[in-house]
Amino acid sequence: MVAHLAFRGPRSRTFLGVARLPHRARDVVRRPGGDPAIPLLPPRPRAAPRGARGEGHPLGHLPRPRDRSADGRPGCRPSPDPPPGDNGPVTSSDDPGSTALTGLRPRLPSPLQEVTDERFARRGIRLLLKRDDLIHPELVGNKWRKLAPNLAAAGGRTVLTFGGAHSNHLRATAAAGRLLGLRTVGVVRGQELADRPLNPSLARCVSDGMRLHFVDRATYRRKTEPETLAAVLRAADAETAYVVPEGGSNSPAVRGCRTLGAELAGRADVVAVACGTGGTLAGLAAGLGTGGRALGVPVLKGGFLADVTRALQDEAFGGPRGDWSLDDRFHFGGYARVPEELDAFAEDFEHRHGIPVERLYVAKLLYALVALAEEDAFPRGSTVAAVITGRPFP
Ligand SMILES: Cc1ncc(COP(=O)(O)O)c(C=O)c1O
Repeated sequence: MVAHLAFRGPRSRTFLGVARLPHRARDVVRRPGGDPAIPLLPPRPRAAPRGARGEGHPLGHLPRPRDRSADGRPGCRPSPDPPPGDNGPVTSSDDPGSTALTGLRPRLPSPLQEVTDERFARRGIRLLLKRDDLIHPELVGNKWRKLAPNLAAAGGRTVLTFGGAHSNHLRATAAAGRLLGLRTVGVVRGQELADRPLNPSLARCVSDGMRLHFVDRATYRRKTEPETLAAVLRAADAETAYVVPEGGSNSPAVRGCRTLGAELAGRADVVAVACGTGGTLAGLAAGLGTGGRALGVPVLKGGFLADVTRALQDEAFGGPRGDWSLDDRFHFGGYARVPEELDAFAEDFEHRHGIPVERLYVAKLLYALVALAEEDAFPRGSTVAAVITGRPFP
């Protein structure tokens, strides 16, 4: 009966509420304690920003996790009276297996596909593609891994989250809402967009039932400050909503990404992933444990991601986990910048291997790996896995 309720999926909020009861009870009890004719030229190594991690050959000196005692541990404050937007303590419901999403039949573990690419093969490197893009047709890649535990934790409440006008995360959340019968609210960066026709990405969100709430960019920047968040929730008429941060990276999400690492542990020497908020990398590295090194390729400019990833691990696991580093040279000018060179690279990769290459994240990751291979950053005989975290839209 319990399994039936939990796995059949919520056709109604009442149904979901009943299915969650055993989890709630358990939480209460536990609370105390991813060959052209003329091969593309490899990229010129870009100058690494001064002081950034990943200078030179990042794989040559992967930074080890910091001394635990030297790190601060933000966000570990128990609060008896959570402020608006505080989703409460993380509980056993972070476990994606406990969610009705399982009824959507995700393809897990996702396929691990070996491809023959002469740019790697001539250096004696095996290239594997971790096809997270095949997990689910609508909740693609890391979206599945990050959203599943959050949707479980939401317990049928309205789910409110944040994103830009082209956010993969907003679309995935909206799709999840439709598939699971959950109400969703998307807080969109840019008040000016409210008066314009919706772009295809936001139009998809709306057709999936997401209610959009546009905020000005200054407010959006401050959205994690408690008062600003409270004001946004009030203005969006969603004060009791379960709040998922921009990009979906919170502790449940980071822990959800551990399974990605666990699926790859011992299968590759280096597992590389494109990074936005760092949540996927944080969980991947933890799941890999000693079974491989994780390499993050930030798609945003700024060199801030190491600190953010560390903080995410602190919050999710209480300290650093796994062996990870970042290479900051492949953002191509910043988020959503897709110059012709990158687009041509991605198109070429698609022709070589017959897989669709998402441009904002996955293309930068694959470009980085080809560049690193050209730099002889991977020793002969090594196996490199690239996580294909998304698919092109539309
Ligand atoms: C396709 C794709 N790959 C990678 C990422 C980066 O994930 P994270 O924000 O966890 O670093 C994102 C953003 O969520 C994404 O949409």
